[in-house]
Amino acid sequence: MAEPVILANGEVKDGFIVEGMQALRSGARACDVAEQIARAVEDDPEEHTVGYGGFPNLLGEVELDASIMDGDTLHVGAVAGLKGFRHPISVARQVMVRLPHVLLVGEGAARFAEEIGAERRDMLSPEAAAAWRACMAQIGTAGSLSERVWRARQVGYGHDTMNVIVRDAHGSLCAAVTTSGVAWKYPGRVGDSPLIGAGNYCDSRYGAAACMGLGEAAIRLAAAAQVVTLLRVGWPLDAAGREVARQLAQLLGVSAAEDPMRQVDWARVLVMDADGAVGGFATRPGLHYKVQRAQDPIPYLREACFVDPS
Ligand code: GLY
Repeated sequence: MAEPVILANGEVKDGFIVEGMQALRSGARACDVAEQIARAVEDDPEEHTVGYGGFPNLLGEVELDASIMDGDTLHVGAVAGLKGFRHPISVARQVMVRLPHVLLVGEGAARFAEEIGAERRDMLSPEAAAAWRACMAQIGTAGSLSERVWRARQVGYGHDTMNVIVRDAHGSLCAAVTTSGVAWKYPGRVGDSPLIGAGNYCDSRYGAAACMGLGEAAIRLAAAAQVVTLLRVGWPLDAAGREVARQLAQLLGVSAAEDPMRQVDWARVLVMDADGAVGGFATRPGLHYKVQRAQDPIPYLREACFVDPS
């Protein structure tokens, strides 16, 4: 039997991970547990970058992205720009299970969610609506949306994401990612989270990686797929994670030099290898992740390794 392990963002509440580990100890499969933890985070109103309570786009609409990848079969399901449904991760999983496709967007994703009886919900919480109104009051209504999206960025924005990677007692891996994306984004903006290879990649033979932070950087580098490719060709986990974080840091550093507004941008990648070893690698200090192994009563918080561009 393999050792069950759960790796998740530092922001994921301990209770959600502990429940997931209890299920793994009872023989639950990696994809079921990854979906279960992602659903719990999607319901958490205190998490302003995922699910209910996530910050909306410039028009005040919450647009949700999610993906799930089964490391045994390389099957994937994803949704992007989904509005009005409580659990994007579960809609993504049903894309994987029921369709000959891997990614649905916008109206098509909502149509599919409706068709499978997914639960509807107004995903804009009162707190997120108040934060949106405050941002809009600061940036004003002058100019096109393209101009306002830059002003909104100066006000400050978030682009955290829920990453969870699960290894079950069979040694199967699954990675799930769910997010409301960048706050105050241009309507229709899609980040790395639903794009397999960018924000999520998982292969039980080699390992899995999931990204958080500025999605545009992870997309441009195919960051998650790069990490797993390095594991596949024999790189140790630490070297693979550092190499991709270094590339992310270089990309974000170049952007910062070109445009000081982007200096707030950062990225982080979480990695688990096929043996259940884990690591977190970030382009800024102070980012954390949580890991719980089968024998641990609770998850342990660890600081991600800060990797600079050099
Ligand atoms: N990493 C989340 C996003 O950029 O949408």
